[in-house]
Amino acid sequence: MTKTLQGTPPIIIGHRGASGYRPEHTLAAYELAIDLGADYIEPDLVASKDGVLIARHENEISETTDVGNHAEFAQRQTTKIIDGETKTGWFTEDFTLAELKTLRAKERIPEVRSQNTNYDGLFEIPTLQEIINLAKAKSTAVGRTIGIYPETKHPSYFQSIGLPLEEPLLASLQANGYQGANAPVFIQSFEVSNLKYLATKTDLPLVQLINNTGKPYDFIVNGGDRTYADLVTASGLTEIAKYAKAIGVHKNLLVPRDSHGKLRLPTSLITDAHNAGLLVHAWTFRNEDLFLPLDFQGNPQKEYELFFSLGVDGVFSDFPDTAKLVKLTL
Ligand code: G3P
Ligand code: CA
Repeated sequence: MTKTLQGTPPIIIGHRGASGYRPEHTLAAYELAIDLGADYIEPDLVASKDGVLIARHENEISETTDVGNHAEFAQRQTTKIIDGETKTGWFTEDFTLAELKTLRAKERIPEVRSQNTNYDGLFEIPTLQEIINLAKAKSTAVGRTIGIYPETKHPSYFQSIGLPLEEPLLASLQANGYQGANAPVFIQSFEVSNLKYLATKTDLPLVQLINNTGKPYDFIVNGGDRTYADLVTASGLTEIAKYAKAIGVHKNLLVPRDSHGKLRLPTSLITDAHNAGLLVHAWTFRNEDLFLPLDFQGNPQKEYELFFSLGVDGVFSDFPDTAKLVKLTL
């Protein structure tokens, strides 16, 4: 008996693709996620200099591409303040799409995922359009609808430099036939104001991301002292339900860990969110012991079992096959 909001099995979201097995945010990672059982694939989106949406977790791309090896781009290395943090490197907004297409992706955490370095240098940075094309082609090939779960990354920043993410995202989704509250798409953001804006422009499902520390960057920009913690109060959830269909939460907000990494008792957040009419999607599930609670070392299935038993409506996973294995037992 599942305790999800709608009584249906939880969805599996391929987090940056099947990023446990391939360099993140590559078509190879997304395709493998689908083949391993993901229902949705998750591109984090930033903009190129010419306003094209591409999949990267940050606009600074030295950690996940070979840009540092390209002598022709050496002069573009620079230092910027992004969401209040000083970053030195190469930034997507300083490159045209054509230039970005000459780069190749690499594994973000080679010290943990050394086997993925076998794929370094093989795959391009994909555009949102290429990801949509893949989702549609794979839907036909595998005989089930593969959804997309795009995230606007650094939306206030991109707005501030004249490359807003929201309009090209909505235009792309509309041009590709995604429309209405039941479309296989969730648009997510760690900021609040751009989601509220999007809610005035689209009926597509929106997801308020909530971290377990800190505050949305637009709250910092706009002043005030509200934090992510305020968003998970009863009044915070009621407010979110006016513009979003789901919350996407750090899993420690659902089951906290103590200072040794041992699980504590679950919070009431899933129940509270469901009472507000909100779905709850949790991130991020990873197989490696480094990321697992002490209770489940060597046994990542146990973590899914726990969160599924609590009624979570979806999981962001780097290893969709592990999520699928447990989902099949529900
Ligand atoms: O978007 C939610 C999930 O992906 C966790 O956040 O930092 O991996 O984009 P992040
Ligand atoms: Ca994300």
